[in-house]
Amino acid sequence: MLTYADLIAQNNVRERISIDRDWRFHLGDIPFPIITGHDMTYSNAKAGKAWGAAAPEYNDSDWRQLNVPHDWAVEQPFDSTENVSQGYRKRGVSWYRKSFTLSPMDKGKHIELQFDGIATHCTIWLNGMLINRNYSGYNSIYIDVTALVNYGDKQNKLAIRVDATPQEGWWYEGAGIYRHTWLVKRSATHIVTDGVFANPIKVGNDKWQIPVETELENSGYEKSNVEVIVGLYDKTWKKITEQKTSVTVPTLGKSTARLNLNVSNPKLWSVEQPTLYNVKTAIYKDGIQVDSLLTTCGFRTIRFTVDSGFYLNDKFVKIKGVCNHQDHAGVGVAVPDALWEFRLRKLKEMGVNAYRCSHNAVSNEFLAACDSMGILVMAENRNFNISPDYMQQLVWMVKRDRNRPSIILWSVFNEEPMQGTESGYEMVRRMSAVVKSLDTTRPVTSASNGGFFTEKNVAHAVDVIGMNYQSKLYDQVHQTFPNTPVISSEDGSAYMVRGEYVTDKLKCTHDSYDTQAAPWGETHRNNWKNIDQRPFLASTFIWTGFDYRGEPQPYVWPAAGASFGCLDQCGFPKAAFYIHQANWTNQPVLQLIPHWNWPKDSIGKNIKVMAITNAEQVKLYLNGKLIGNKKVDKYEMVTWYVPYKPGKLVAKAYSGKTEVSKVEVETTGEPYSIELIPDRTLLKGDGNDAIPVTVRVLDKKGRPVPTANLPIEFEIKGDAEIIGLGNGDPNSHEAEKGNRRKLFNGLAQVIIQSKYDAVDNIYLTAKSAGLISAQTSIRLAK
Ligand code: GAL
Repeated sequence: MLTYADLIAQNNVRERISIDRDWRFHLGDIPFPIITGHDMTYSNAKAGKAWGAAAPEYNDSDWRQLNVPHDWAVEQPFDSTENVSQGYRKRGVSWYRKSFTLSPMDKGKHIELQFDGIATHCTIWLNGMLINRNYSGYNSIYIDVTALVNYGDKQNKLAIRVDATPQEGWWYEGAGIYRHTWLVKRSATHIVTDGVFANPIKVGNDKWQIPVETELENSGYEKSNVEVIVGLYDKTWKKITEQKTSVTVPTLGKSTARLNLNVSNPKLWSVEQPTLYNVKTAIYKDGIQVDSLLTTCGFRTIRFTVDSGFYLNDKFVKIKGVCNHQDHAGVGVAVPDALWEFRLRKLKEMGVNAYRCSHNAVSNEFLAACDSMGILVMAENRNFNISPDYMQQLVWMVKRDRNRPSIILWSVFNEEPMQGTESGYEMVRRMSAVVKSLDTTRPVTSASNGGFFTEKNVAHAVDVIGMNYQSKLYDQVHQTFPNTPVISSEDGSAYMVRGEYVTDKLKCTHDSYDTQAAPWGETHRNNWKNIDQRPFLASTFIWTGFDYRGEPQPYVWPAAGASFGCLDQCGFPKAAFYIHQANWTNQPVLQLIPHWNWPKDSIGKNIKVMAITNAEQVKLYLNGKLIGNKKVDKYEMVTWYVPYKPGKLVAKAYSGKTEVSKVEVETTGEPYSIELIPDRTLLKGDGNDAIPVTVRVLDKKGRPVPTANLPIEFEIKGDAEIIGLGNGDPNSHEAEKGNRRKLFNGLAQVIIQSKYDAVDNIYLTAKSAGLISAQTSIRLAK
């Protein structure tokens, strides 16, 4: 007999428990036994009778133990026989298993398993029962397992066969359970996952409404009469307003509660001040709270116009965006949440205010970071397909993400051969209708790279026309569709390798002077000039913000990663970063390339020197002697050819007659000591938090040596581990796991992650033969 306290505990608000810890992993497939003979065949046809590694009793004790998020592809060696587009990493099939228990007190609750992302196809069994098949690496999977779980001592056995042989993209996609996993316990009557829609709408001068929809379901035995209370809270937890209603939820059925919150004069969400509010939805049954959920929202208006671009809160904003894939150095697609903040922070430093999630749905944690950091997001659906399975992926994305103030556009596809056809038009019409049935507040777009001038094409079905690489046709598309706003949904595709100053096909390098681009693209400078001079174009979305694995265009093996980024795979800036920073920020920018560490036989030879700046004029000095004084073209920047002589190159930038900035590039001595620069010095001991640490070497005078390519060995002490290593070299074949890495043009990165229940502070040491080693300490936060 349950006591009243038990009842409260049992019915109390949801628990969302991470099950990321302690999985068993087997690399490679484990074939199922061949079904033969009547008994086996009969049994095979029955529920809960899975065979082989899917069976609950399977002995997985010799499998590797690990925590997810996990990407097994990044653990594989580079292999020239594997697919270039996937970064020459083997994918294939692997298995994961995990056990968990539930307390007898959980009986009567609704139990759901959630997988935020598994690449690429997967089959999931619980206690020998097949519970899900999923066909995309980019959508979450929610499975109601209430009817199937064991309580008490009897373990629940989860088995997942992941097939990463199929590919959904032409970039590195990783393999495995690469996003978070959850066990969610809610009372029988509860809010459905992604079941709250609370997106503020402006209804008058300083007057807003939040029409709040709450979808409820009931796994109990009787219909449930509940009270739904929805309140709006600011970030100090001050209640702004509250409304309530009653609703009946049928047994094993669903109901939706609808309420309207009226709000006057809220603080707005903007790029500069991304103010967020919380909507708390609480469900009461017989006076006891049975479920509650917090949903973040923001008050902002968005408007795309036909001739003057984009307006956020009625203020003009040129959308300075970057497209990105979702892999990072060392960790592949299993990117720790903290790295999203790191990556977005780097982009903001560059002046970026928008991010296109090319070409797929992204993680929740990433979007939460965009909401709180004030990044505008173009969300994108992966598969252009209107069959029910695929439409469900689109529905899932819109339902999960429609409360996020950061999201300003829903893109239904990227570059589809059917974009210029009537079928393409019909498909987008249907996809758009599905989006609009869930959210009418954001325009639907597509990222099209052609087909604009046929009689019927997708441009006739979208709200905003997205153009990929149409710099020659921007004006014509705009004239052809005078009533439809247009954006550049993808552009650039310029090549540049960090710290390289020579384009050398044999070495697969690209210089940093912004001279190279894909045949369909433009250099960084031309690209921005084209867009900046067209007020009707609401955006640029540069391909790409960060380098990524795969697509090492125009090269192939041994090149393994793309060089399109403004930053490399670690997030170290290239010259392109500063070119955009000069154009996109108001801070004084002045950078000189190249380094000044050329070999002896370069003395007297002309070296191309480029000053990247937003000042009006630059004076260049070599060893104290003025060698040039040039006016700056704001798009082109300034260049000189300077006969090389070791020493000091100095640039001074002027606005009018005033010196606004100065930069020096000096010939350094030999590498002498190592330096470690952690991005933060405090780490949460939660098994999840992670910090990228920059590694570089200094000469005797403490100057970073930009040409150093030395091997460094790392050692970590305390409750953390090195989860990945990188250096931004797109041609490197070094292992990304382990404890060694070469510097590439002076830099490398080590990513460290805390262990679960960590208590000891962390010490990272770096050594290299003949150099003074470095140690950095990182404190643990409880
Ligand atoms: C685009 C495509 C991107 C990437 C890029 C490389 O056409 O949308 O995914 O492949 O080209 O330049």
